[in-house]
Amino acid sequence: MHAFRSVALDDEKGELVLLDQTLLPNEISYIRLSKVEDIWEAIRNLRVRGAPAIGIAAAYGVYLAVRNSANITESGALISIDSAVAIFKKAKQYLASARPTAVNLFWALDRMERRLALECDALASPAKCHSVARLPASGREEIDDLLAALRQEADAIRDEDARMCHAIGEHGLSLLERGWGILTHCNAGALATAEFGTALAPIYLGQERGYAFKVFADETRPLLQGARLTAWELMQAGVDTTLICDNMAASVMKRGLVQAVLVGCDRVAANGDTANKIGTLGVAILAKRYSISFYVLGPSSSIDLTCPTGAQIEIEERHGEEITSKWYTHPMAPAGISTFNPAFDVTDAELITAIITEKGIARPPFASSLRELMK
Ligand code: MRU
Repeated sequence: MHAFRSVALDDEKGELVLLDQTLLPNEISYIRLSKVEDIWEAIRNLRVRGAPAIGIAAAYGVYLAVRNSANITESGALISIDSAVAIFKKAKQYLASARPTAVNLFWALDRMERRLALECDALASPAKCHSVARLPASGREEIDDLLAALRQEADAIRDEDARMCHAIGEHGLSLLERGWGILTHCNAGALATAEFGTALAPIYLGQERGYAFKVFADETRPLLQGARLTAWELMQAGVDTTLICDNMAASVMKRGLVQAVLVGCDRVAANGDTANKIGTLGVAILAKRYSISFYVLGPSSSIDLTCPTGAQIEIEERHGEEITSKWYTHPMAPAGISTFNPAFDVTDAELITAIITEKGIARPPFASSLRELMK
């Protein structure tokens, strides 16, 4: 369906290959990164973005940190398993600091660490030593095994995400009817995931099956993910897409042009409160006003049952320059103006019609339905 991949690994060169989303839609340019600092920068500055894609990039990031540590690649010289573990932990902590809201980042890094611990345990066998400090001295084979395990885990995170997106598409499509108008906010498409997307997955599936949806894409200020990314990838797939400014959603709904809202999520709390791109809350309130179904779509890796409610989700705040001048040839606000630029908001569970994951559809009350779904 799409010719691009937002995140890929070139293992031969030891590089993460990212489609630089900051340059879209004007330039299709891939960047190749081998240093953890550069991967951190790419996540921080939204060259790679969208909760699942961030998690995948970070998983490859910790793998590459160990893979590319100089002593391993120089022939003959090897780092010890202890050093490899130390490099991993440092890279993990660093990458986790890139962005605070999307739980997929921490989920993917924790999963990589669990795989590292498993592999270390296996290497320590038959002593069955669980303490990394007591691991035996390593040779080429042990390091190779460790790297293979990390790479396999990162690949699995990516591949599972692709499969989850397709399953989300099926569940989501079961709630939609042919010819509907669908409004979406930000970008929860192929660019934000391994492929196919979450909120856009039912739209792509519907496109394949002749559903003839009419999609309204909010431009999504201030970073314009809707205009730059969603409009771009939907158009590529031949989907009937109309771009609107964020403040036009109410008018479009009032005119009866929207039958369902589909959005992604960065973190869903145990009670169903959902953090997503700033502006999502406003769209949900409007949907309620006009009796339009409001669906949140995401992989189960976006559901954080350890987080009781939306009040505990850390909301990233970004530089005010994104509001005042980023996209303009001249600043569009007076110099020195105070700004408030939260990157996400939390949509209250009571505004959400259903939460759609690869495992199925959760409906209110979410405290029990999400727990059931995640079993
Ligand atoms: O700041 P971004 O562009 O990373 O925000 C992205 C979103 O809010 C998406 O809706 C969310 O991550 C889901 S992507 C499948």
